[in-house]
Amino acid sequence: MSLSSLLMSFCEWADNSFFGHGIRSSVWLFPFVEIFHLLALGVLGGTVLIVNLRLLGIRFQRDRVRELAREVQPWMLGSLVVMLVSGFFLFSSESVKMYGNGAFRVKMISLVLAILFTFTIHRKVAMSDEMQVSPLWRKLAAVLSLVLWSGVGLAGRAIGIV
Ligand code: HEM
Repeated sequence: MSLSSLLMSFCEWADNSFFGHGIRSSVWLFPFVEIFHLLALGVLGGTVLIVNLRLLGIRFQRDRVRELAREVQPWMLGSLVVMLVSGFFLFSSESVKMYGNGAFRVKMISLVLAILFTFTIHRKVAMSDEMQVSPLWRKLAAVLSLVLWSGVGLAGRAIGIV
């Protein structure tokens, strides 16, 4: 079975599921779920911004990067889980349509890259002792993180436009 037909049968399964059908045939469920998607987006965006402004040396210089990253981690993880769950329910109501939506594909690819980068290199840079990582690497990690997460958000916004 090819990857594209595997993805298509997954989209058809989600589309025909009781929750996909339920959200699609309800007037208020989609916007209700999207409230959680957008609120969690605000929290996730805030946590990503705080740590990266510190890594760029623009804000929060009195705080150690590691302590700041530790402090925002529960909010980042919690909001990411809400984004993934609410996103899946939004997707399930229009999954076959999303299969052909270029912006949705860009979003999913950027999302996988953003999550991989956040929990590997970015986390290593943020949790390392500041003497161990050069300011250039800290700035590069911050810029790449901001580019990847902005890509997810912008592609998410573009879904309804494309
Ligand atoms: C951290 C991850 C995510 C971010 C930052 C994000 C961001 C966004 C943004 C900014 C919008 C546009 C909201 C609007 O204009 O009303 C959106 C909508 C949407 N997102 Fe996400 N999203 C994320 C995860 C997901 C996931 C994992 C899925 C699906 C598996 C998903 C599916 C959708 C769908 C279906 C829409 C509605 C598109 C429409 O019909 O207008 N999102 N998202």
